[in-house]
Amino acid sequence: MTPTRVAYRYAETDQEHKACFFVRRRVFIDGQNVPEDLEIDGLDDAALHVLAEENGNILGTARIRILEDIAKIERVAVLEEARGKGIGRGIMIFIIEKMAERRDIARLKLGSQCHAIPFYESLGFAAVGEVYMDAGIAHRDMVRDNQQIKQTG
Ligand code: COA
Repeated sequence: MTPTRVAYRYAETDQEHKACFFVRRRVFIDGQNVPEDLEIDGLDDAALHVLAEENGNILGTARIRILEDIAKIERVAVLEEARGKGIGRGIMIFIIEKMAERRDIARLKLGSQCHAIPFYESLGFAAVGEVYMDAGIAHRDMVRDNQQIKQTG
C-alpha cells in the first residue's frame, strides 16, 4: 500500500465544513451521547474549523473561537477507527502553531473532558479550576500561554 500522510489545515469549502460536522456527529452525538442541540450550538459560523485529512478522507477536526485575546479550542475529535495514530496531537500542534503566528492572542483555553487531561498536558496545557459537568461529561478547564513567534518590524 502507498504510504499516506495526514494533512492538517483549516476547512475552506462547504464540503469540508460538512465533513468536519460529520466527524463531530459520529464522535460526540453517536459516540458520547451528547445531545444534538448541545453539540450543534449555533456558534460554528463564528469559528475557524481545523481538519485532518488522509487520502481525501477527513478523520479529525476541532474548532477555534477567538474571544478577545483568548483562542478557545473546542470539539477536538478523531474518528474512533483513526485514534491512537497521532492525529489528535497533529490537530492540536497545527492550532498551537497557527495561534503562535498571531500577536492578538495571549492564551489558548479549552474545556477538557477529564479523561483527556493527560493528552492536553502533553501539549503544554495546564488544568485550572474545579471539575464541572457539561453535556453529562466531567470537564476541567485547561490553559496554555500563546508562545507568539517574535516578529521584527
Ligand atoms: N486519555 C489519555 N491519553 C490520551 C487520550 C485519552 N483520552 N487520547 C490520547 N491520549 C494520548 C495518547 O496515548 C498519545 O500519547 P503518546 O504520544 O504518549 O502515545 C497522545 O495522547 C496523542 O494521542 P493521539 O493519537 O494524537 O490522539 P487521538 O488521535 O486518538 O485523539 C482524542 C485524541 C481525545 C481527540 C480522541 O481520543 C477523541 O476524539 N476522543 C473522543 C472525543 C473527545 O473526548 N475529545 C476530547 C474532548 S475534550
